[in-house]
Amino acid sequence: MRSLVVVVFVSQLLKPAWQQIPRQCATSEALASRQCCPVWSGDGSACGARSGRGICQDVAVSEQPDGPQYPFNGVDDRERWPLTFLTALAVVSGTLWVPTAVNAHLATSAKNTISQDYVIITGTYSQMSNSSGPMFREVSIYDLFVWMHYYVSRPALLGGENNVWMQVDFGHWAPAFLPWHRVFLLRWEHEIRKVTGDFDFAIPYWDWRDAQECEVCTNELVGGQSPLNPNLISPSSVFSSWKVICSREPEYSMRGVLCNGTEEGPLLRNPGKHDQNLADGLPTSSEVDFTLSLSQYDTGPMDRMANMSFRNTLEGFGNPRTGLGNSSKLGMHAALHVFMNGTMSSVQGSANDPVFLLHHAFVDSIYEQWLRRHQPEKSHYPTANAPIGHNSEYYMAPFMPLYRNGDYFISSKEIGYEYSYLQDPGQRFVDDLVSYLEEARGLWPWLLGAAVLGAVCSALLAVVLAKIRSLLSRQGKRRSSESEKQPLISSSEGSTDSYQAMMA
Ligand SMILES: *[C@@H]1O[C@H](CO)[C@@H](O)[C@H](O)[C@H]1NC(C)=O
Ligand SMILES: *[C@@H]1O[C@H](CO)[C@@H](O)[C@H](O)[C@H]1NC(C)=O
Ligand SMILES: *[C@@H]1O[C@H](CO)[C@@H](O)[C@H](O)[C@H]1NC(C)=O
Ligand SMILES: *[C@@H]1O[C@H](CO)[C@@H](O)[C@H](O)[C@H]1NC(C)=O
Ligand SMILES: *[C@@H]1O[C@H](CO)[C@@H](O)[C@H](O)[C@H]1NC(C)=O
Repeated sequence: MRSLVVVVFVSQLLKPAWQQIPRQCATSEALASRQCCPVWSGDGSACGARSGRGICQDVAVSEQPDGPQYPFNGVDDRERWPLTFLTALAVVSGTLWVPTAVNAHLATSAKNTISQDYVIITGTYSQMSNSSGPMFREVSIYDLFVWMHYYVSRPALLGGENNVWMQVDFGHWAPAFLPWHRVFLLRWEHEIRKVTGDFDFAIPYWDWRDAQECEVCTNELVGGQSPLNPNLISPSSVFSSWKVICSREPEYSMRGVLCNGTEEGPLLRNPGKHDQNLADGLPTSSEVDFTLSLSQYDTGPMDRMANMSFRNTLEGFGNPRTGLGNSSKLGMHAALHVFMNGTMSSVQGSANDPVFLLHHAFVDSIYEQWLRRHQPEKSHYPTANAPIGHNSEYYMAPFMPLYRNGDYFISSKEIGYEYSYLQDPGQRFVDDLVSYLEEARGLWPWLLGAAVLGAVCSALLAVVLAKIRSLLSRQGKRRSSESEKQPLISSSEGSTDSYQAMMA
């Protein structure tokens, strides 16, 4: 089974895959008018309003007060997202408009396929409106997500060189950390499905509890270590040729610019060779159990100082043995980033490494376990006074279409996906059987060269596969239920760029 997970993951990532500012809205006109309501070719009217296809609707943002951590107003494009860029968006048949693919042909990799739907923002609104004009750039589907993670976590530019506010992050250090990354993975998974045409694809997770080493760092999975340079990926892995973007945050801030998507060299990773003063190692089962026992989602200032906060402890700033915030060492989620000692250990650049996906899928499964155990009311998620970007009704930067933090404070069962290790045993047996019957049907003809085999053979193979699978506990796969509802869509942290610095 290990190899099946591998095949699914690697082949999906490398097959063509297919998100930020919709292409159609990356124009001077759209920037000046702050409207993204493209003319529908069907009837020549904006959003196809004449034919009743859609309407151009004003975006209303929440006016709930933010916490005191960010002492500015009107300096950063992510404030009151998405109003700096858009005050009106097309709404088609009840859901926010989703740009349709112009060209749906499949290329060879999510990393190499340019997004047909989205471009990335490479300058601030004020840079664009003063002189430069629109600052957008094409990007591959994989790198679109790398850029989004950079953009949500970057410091605020205060104008000029070396003038930034580091103590802000619209997706980390506060309550939205878990909902934001949940939407991020859903979007990412969806885009990989679209580009590969494989709508059964599910992001695999790596259960790192009590692991002593990076068990998924093999050439079959996310790449082994290079024998020539321990900081690099083995040349035998496809990931050795990947180039990173948005990995040099202190440099952009120093120059007063944003990451512009330029390639910046190979992926770096040297698991276990991290600075022991920053984190001990990978999280243990008992640390996960303690974290799950915390009944308050977030507490006090709802930032990195928060005590006895489930979110802060899972994120890694709360001590996973005492629950006290401002821990002297990073734990849980952040410890894994530090442990990887390379691209993963800088917040803004971390999504370059495919380990990010496997790691965050598992973090999301711990969030899911907490939601199931504590069954919080929706109102348990803060509506006001969370650090900027993190209140319940705030739209997540930089997603388009728009998602609210509080809407993702619900069980994955309601969204339509499940973790194999969290299923109740009965359901799990049925699902395994169905899933392996399906896999068996696909495998047998290939293995034996026979096109027709009875259900009996398939069932036998399924049982065998299920047995093998039960022996393998460390990797798993998220799975979608039949009734998956697509959330309204189509499609890291620190004072400088590192988790280390984040503790300040
Ligand atoms: C844009 O122009 C305004 C006023 O002319 C100025 O205050 C601001 O600093 C400029 N912004 C940039 C990024 O150059
Ligand atoms: C993009 O950024 C790189 C390095 O950060 C810089 O060398 C390059 O000139 C920039 N390109 C554009 C088009 O701004
Ligand atoms: C990697 O670990 C070394 C040795 O502990 C440390 O000096 C370095 O800062 C770490 N680098 C990254 C990117 O984590
Ligand atoms: C967290 O608890 C410590 C120890 O009791 C206390 O000193 C600190 O003020 C608390 N911090 C917050 C933010 O409540
Ligand atoms: C947080 O902890 C560090 C040491 O780990 C300490 O230097 C710093 O003063 C603490 N911050 C606050 C606000 O207590």
